[in-house]
Amino acid sequence: MQSGLIETPQRILITGGSSGIGLEACKRLVDRGHHLTLLCRTEERCLETIEILTAKTSKQTEVEGLSINLQDLQSVEKGCSIILQKNEPIDTLVLNAGIQNVGIKKPQFTKQALEETFCVNHLAHQLIVMRLLPLLLRSKKPRLVVTSSEVHNPVSGGGRVGQPATLGALGGLRQQNQVAMINGQTIFDADKAYKDSKLCNILMARHLADQLKKKGKEIPVITWSPGLVIPKGQGGFFRTSRRQNPIGLALFSLIARDILRLTEMPEKAGDLLADLITSHHYEKDRFQYISNQLTSPGRHSFKEIGTSQEGENKQLGEQLWILSEDLINRKLLEST
Ligand SMILES: NC(=O)c1ccc[n+]([C@@H]2O[C@H](COP(=O)([O-])OP(=O)(O)OC[C@H]3O[C@@H](n4cnc5c(N)ncnc54)[C@H](OP(=O)(O)O)[C@@H]3O)[C@@H](O)[C@H]2O)c1
Repeated sequence: MQSGLIETPQRILITGGSSGIGLEACKRLVDRGHHLTLLCRTEERCLETIEILTAKTSKQTEVEGLSINLQDLQSVEKGCSIILQKNEPIDTLVLNAGIQNVGIKKPQFTKQALEETFCVNHLAHQLIVMRLLPLLLRSKKPRLVVTSSEVHNPVSGGGRVGQPATLGALGGLRQQNQVAMINGQTIFDADKAYKDSKLCNILMARHLADQLKKKGKEIPVITWSPGLVIPKGQGGFFRTSRRQNPIGLALFSLIARDILRLTEMPEKAGDLLADLITSHHYEKDRFQYISNQLTSPGRHSFKEIGTSQEGENKQLGEQLWILSEDLINRKLLEST
């Protein structure tokens, strides 16, 4: 255990704990004796993940799973009511799940007619915050951790490639009909949809931190970027891109990970996330954005930096929260 970590077991609720960075973080959290509630896509994913996490540990930790499909707001709503019924404080809420559909030409829509990336990465997570914040605020040391990405920032290395993240005037969210892009542009771009969703993560977290401050209830609201993480093997974050263009992805992985060494190891990214969740170092009661930036091949620097300019726009953050809340409520009503 690194110095500066909270020693007492924390009750941690996490999305995206079944794979990649989240799974690596969960392994470390279980080893440190923390209690986990995993919000996984299906019952099966919950069981598989619990099996992995509990197989080797000798620690007396509780690891439980609840199936919540982030592509289905009804499922998120149901899961949250089960958690609310239990009425136990949450010490750290970790919103880590995420997808990207890069390589896909046509938008994929959820059963509630929401663009998949936007629904999973942003809307479902805002709904979780809307419902579970009271339980988080009941903890003696509450903390919110949200996994974003450097690509939310159009001037970052990854953010400069392709169409930049920008939500414009939220034109897509203001329309009543099914719109794939948040800024309302008619041509779908899966890469931009992902970047935009990661900008939403920043704006949502910043808005929440501001709201809590206004109410005198400040807590650490930590957004972060893990750097580029390309795991070996078939599943994980690049699964859609691999399906769309297997040779292209194999080449990209070879060049970015193995030759130029631009990537972070999944294990190291998991370490960083586990520290953000439990270390005293990040206990500041305010919004933070911490990025694992590449400094030279094979080397990263993990420190607090500024977000993109748009990510600092409080008015945009407020509008995004309000319009997202309206959309969530409308979709929940329509699907009951
Ligand atoms: N990898 C990178 O280069 C990179 C870079 C910057 C930021 N990030 C961010 O890091 C976070 C974790 O990514 P990762 O690289 O660890 O990817 P990953 O291995 O694909 O993990 C994503 C996690 O999200 C879960 N998830 C996806 N869709 C879901 C749904 N509909 N319902 C419930 N859970 C769902 C996955 O569940 P299943 O296991 O069931 O699929 C998995 O646990 C994401 O927010 C991503 O945007 C990644």
